[in-house]
Amino acid sequence: MRKQIAAANWKMNLTLQQGEALLDGILGKVSAPGSNQQVIFAVPFPYLASAQQKIAGKQQVFIAAQNCYNKKAGAYTGETSVEMLQSLGIQWVVLGHSERREYFGESDQFLAEKVNIVLETGLQPIFCCGEPLQIREQNTQNDYVGAQLKASLYHLSAEQVQKVVIAYEPIWAIGTGKTATSAQAQEMHAFIRAELAKQYGAEVANNISILYGGSVKAANAQEIFGQPDVDGGLVGGASLVVDEFVAIIEALK
Ligand code: G3P
Repeated sequence: MRKQIAAANWKMNLTLQQGEALLDGILGKVSAPGSNQQVIFAVPFPYLASAQQKIAGKQQVFIAAQNCYNKKAGAYTGETSVEMLQSLGIQWVVLGHSERREYFGESDQFLAEKVNIVLETGLQPIFCCGEPLQIREQNTQNDYVGAQLKASLYHLSAEQVQKVVIAYEPIWAIGTGKTATSAQAQEMHAFIRAELAKQYGAEVANNISILYGGSVKAANAQEIFGQPDVDGGLVGGASLVVDEFVAIIEALK
């Protein structure tokens, strides 16, 4: 049974003190996740060690990095390697977020190389995909997202791809308050799962968690997460508010 996941993406927000207080607030309020549920906090690089200490001993709770480089080590000033993350005990890495694709020009091939090095090092990627508004308006979102998956994931073996969590984040819903309807989310998630089934078979496809991201709030999480092919969410703004994110975690199936 695939995991149901509430993942927070803090992006480039909060001071260390604010982040520690947010984690304390959420961890102090939320009930322990079920055996099939996971809670992941993707925090800025400087806070990884502190956040990892905060969650020590908490079952089914993890800290993720929001990125990593595609090389093991070397003269890449300013970059962070997967081995550095592993040395901190980090097990998850968000890859391919639309903001990194847009602002930092991360290509499908560059992301395929990042997926490879994360898996080779024994960590798990949360791989982001999703279409811009103009693609949605042209109703070619399936081709667009299908091409992202093919370019960055389909070189993986069946064993490897089952370690990947996919996050569908329609760019037009990120930070806009314009959430995809639960029907739109389900339609895309079912398409992604069907594409994975074509490539790897239904059993593998059914083992892969597919998260929705894009203006998830406490008010809409229950309906979105209740869709058969939605396995939780990757949450930005609402994850910065204790009561919002606690309610989102509790909306997991
Ligand atoms: O990675 C999650 C993020 O892109 C969604 O942001 O603020 O719309 O929940 P937000």
